[in-house]
Amino acid sequence: MSDRKGIFAGDDPFEIVRDWLDQARFEEPNDPDAIALATVDADGLPNARMVLLKEIEADAFVFYTNYNSPKAVELDSAGKAAFVMHWKSLRRQIKVRGLVSREDGPQADEYFASRSLKSRLGAWASMQSQPLPSRNTLLAEVARVTARFGATPPRPPFWGGYRVLPLEIEFWADGAFRLHDRFVWRREKLDLAWKVSRLSP
Ligand SMILES: Cc1cc2nc3c(=O)[nH]c(=O)nc-3n(C[C@H](O)[C@H](O)[C@H](O)COP(=O)(O)O)c2cc1C
Repeated sequence: MSDRKGIFAGDDPFEIVRDWLDQARFEEPNDPDAIALATVDADGLPNARMVLLKEIEADAFVFYTNYNSPKAVELDSAGKAAFVMHWKSLRRQIKVRGLVSREDGPQADEYFASRSLKSRLGAWASMQSQPLPSRNTLLAEVARVTARFGATPPRPPFWGGYRVLPLEIEFWADGAFRLHDRFVWRREKLDLAWKVSRLSP
């Protein structure tokens, strides 16, 4: 008989992620949707950085980035990633591990179009993570792409989304005296059913 109840209850882990994130939106002063995205490079050296989680779909998590960035190179070559969300205000953490694929179709176009004009032009202007001689170099590039595209920049071919299809989702909530509650949802393949276990803190 499971003792999974309260904030851990439910049959769909994506619903629980949505509920926790909705609560965090009221509590966190900034970026409740920030995730620490972990990848691994060609030498097996781990890498990590924050990105913003933009969509929670029925079976996937989506974020957007530059396809020439180190993270994109690492995501494309490994086809796998992990990420962590931590809400200090709620004292909760969610960890996700899974398979990754690009979202570079109409959905990425639509999301790109929803961004502010300056952010869209910035995406064109920035060779993300490449060395930059000065801030003025970047501002000159912004001016150049502004002159080129005006108010209607299309989505750059080197910019789009990634979809994380989880094989594992762990929910962690702070407990008194470090007796935290943890439940992990695991499935061996994307089309198999989830199995849930409680973990020791
Ligand atoms: C709160 C926060 C949110 C961020 N969101 C994004 C994002 O959604 N996409 C992105 O490409 N970079 C985002 N960044 C910047 C990345 O952390 C990182 O500096 C950049 O993507 C380059 O990463 P890479 O060199 O590992 O590819 C964010 C940074 C912070 C602190």
